[in-house]
Amino acid sequence: MNAAKIIKKKKEGERVSDAELAALIRGYAAGEVPDYQMAAFAMAVIFRGMHLDETVTLTREMRDSGKVMQWPDLDKPIVDKHSCGGIGDKISLPLTPMLAACGMAVPMISGRGLGPTGGTLDKLESISGFRTDLSIEELQKQVRDIGCVITGTTHEIAPADRELYALRDITSTVTSVPLITASILSKKLAEGLEDLVLDVKWGSGTFMKTIAEAEELAESMVGVASRLGVKASALITDMNQPLGSVGNAIEVEESIDILKNEVDADTITLTIALGTELLLAAKMVDSSDQAVTMLADSIRSGAAYEKFEQMVAAQGGDLSAPRPISKLHVLKANRDGVIATVDAEALGWAVIDMGGGRKVLEDEINHAIGLEWLVKIGDTVERNQPLLHVYCTDSGYAKVKPDLMKAITLSDDPVEPPSLIVKRISG
Ligand code: URA
Repeated sequence: MNAAKIIKKKKEGERVSDAELAALIRGYAAGEVPDYQMAAFAMAVIFRGMHLDETVTLTREMRDSGKVMQWPDLDKPIVDKHSCGGIGDKISLPLTPMLAACGMAVPMISGRGLGPTGGTLDKLESISGFRTDLSIEELQKQVRDIGCVITGTTHEIAPADRELYALRDITSTVTSVPLITASILSKKLAEGLEDLVLDVKWGSGTFMKTIAEAEELAESMVGVASRLGVKASALITDMNQPLGSVGNAIEVEESIDILKNEVDADTITLTIALGTELLLAAKMVDSSDQAVTMLADSIRSGAAYEKFEQMVAAQGGDLSAPRPISKLHVLKANRDGVIATVDAEALGWAVIDMGGGRKVLEDEINHAIGLEWLVKIGDTVERNQPLLHVYCTDSGYAKVKPDLMKAITLSDDPVEPPSLIVKRISG
């Protein structure tokens, strides 16, 4: 294999063959292709893109650089959800036990927050004792025993992606649809899934700032997953305002309220919509209406909450231990008006600035920090009406209050609220 020749082909916009790409990734995983050649290849992909066939090969090779889970003795559909991340996106927490309560197996490998969007593992770690470092054997045993798990990746899962992602991070080569597709799917497909649903968000609080960008990523991920034998669909969803609460312990509390049937909000609407995709894909129901009923029943009956309790206990967590939330401050509207826009990303950064997230990987997180978005785009508000509950220290609040005020704009004219679910993309 001649890495320089492959890089030159990509740079000149020529198709790289299946065999060449496979050799490049295998060589990289084996330490035979140096970082500088891989970085040059990634940069060539940024400018030239990839054909779907190339993205399929890249994904397959990165998946197969590590262990791919097998489930020969499991008589349940093996499913998962991936979200491209957003402010207050805690859907994995209620959805995973709901799916398990509906009879599905969910071996969810999740990530940490870096940048303005929070990470599922960080949220779960606000539950005292909760382990997110299960081995593959522990993960598989837990899925067989109770039907669901949410844990971190291991060194055995898609090691070529771990190397390449770290390299992309420092060479400005993250934002490429084929590279993102291969990176996300190599890890998800290593779970040995049958069905996958993707929540591809667009807006001020996520990676993809326009619907067109979100659609391009969704089409790519659905196409590649389908070509690699996993039935996939995607929902393009709104992330122009936070999805309820934002922060670690507070998002766990909101998830518990959802599982106890104590809230009625966008978070539950979206959770049920994503669950519906999986129940239909796995042919556990004949219609969307049946799926919605089954998922709602899993909450109403208490079965989903019971699964959550089992999952937490199996991973060493103690739900009865207190999860402190910091002191409440209330951000109020400074005039009458209509909520026009909110810079959701700025709200995510404010949580980080107050200590509720990381600026660098080594930072400690204060799980008690957070905020609650109390209004919606399009709502009419009066002067002094609370817009945000902010949970932090007095000095933290003083530091972020100007940014929070700046992040929310009020209009004198009516504003059309954005649609929560914009589009569905299927394979
Ligand atoms: N998350 C990943 O795991 N990989 C990417 O490339 C982007 C986001």
